[in-house]
Amino acid sequence: EQKRRPFVLANWKINMEPREVGPYLEKVLPALADEHQVEVGIAAQDLYLSQMLAAAKGNPLTIVGENAHWEDAGAFTGETSPKALAQMGVEYVLIGHFERRKFFNETDETVNLKTLAALRNGLKPIVDLDEDLSAYGNLVPEKVVLAQLKAALDGVMADEMDQVTIAYEPTWAIGSGEAASADQAQEAAALIRQSLANLYGRDLAEKIRILYGGSVTPANGQNFLCQPDIDGILVGKAALNPEKFLALVDEA
Ligand code: G3P
Repeated sequence: EQKRRPFVLANWKINMEPREVGPYLEKVLPALADEHQVEVGIAAQDLYLSQMLAAAKGNPLTIVGENAHWEDAGAFTGETSPKALAQMGVEYVLIGHFERRKFFNETDETVNLKTLAALRNGLKPIVDLDEDLSAYGNLVPEKVVLAQLKAALDGVMADEMDQVTIAYEPTWAIGSGEAASADQAQEAAALIRQSLANLYGRDLAEKIRILYGGSVTPANGQNFLCQPDIDGILVGKAALNPEKFLALVDEA
């Protein structure tokens, strides 16, 4: 039995037009019909989630939100309620993606609050660590990732950790066409796992999935997927093409 089920996750961001969603799913769903070994997911903007949840029903495709607020409900115009997401049947939510931190002023503190809010509402957070040095003065990259990890998980109890996935996406690799090397990514994932072991104990740390993201393509996906501490990939641009996304699922 595998110890951690590989996770291949597309992140559409705000790409894809409404008319493209149906045809994409029509290509992907039949190809996934017998997929049990790999968890396959798509993170999409809120507008598409209902349609995607309905289409994915009974199929091995997980639908993921891209953001959720730190309060369950209230006066937060334009935000996404984690409670509503969970009630709609969404299982996972991305928290603290680099683009959220960069363009929407998310900080370690809001990432932490959002992680806690997701868990409180029964959503599984996929916590993004981005190695962005700008918020940390002169810390070295590894230290930044670990500081982000610790901050994000502040107050998360050991018995909630089986709900948590970690994603490592070095800023410079996102959308740049320049992926990290497999060694680099493995090294970061091993550090993250060691840090999880320090926080929660080795047994638990061995159960937590760590994904790599940043310019993953069918040409390099396998290199990441075969690393001992990398349990999946988070794919932006390449996954906008259903054939490429399926190729990555095959590799996993
Ligand atoms: O969340 C995945 C994303 O940030 C990576 O994007 O386009 O470099 O695969 P991309």
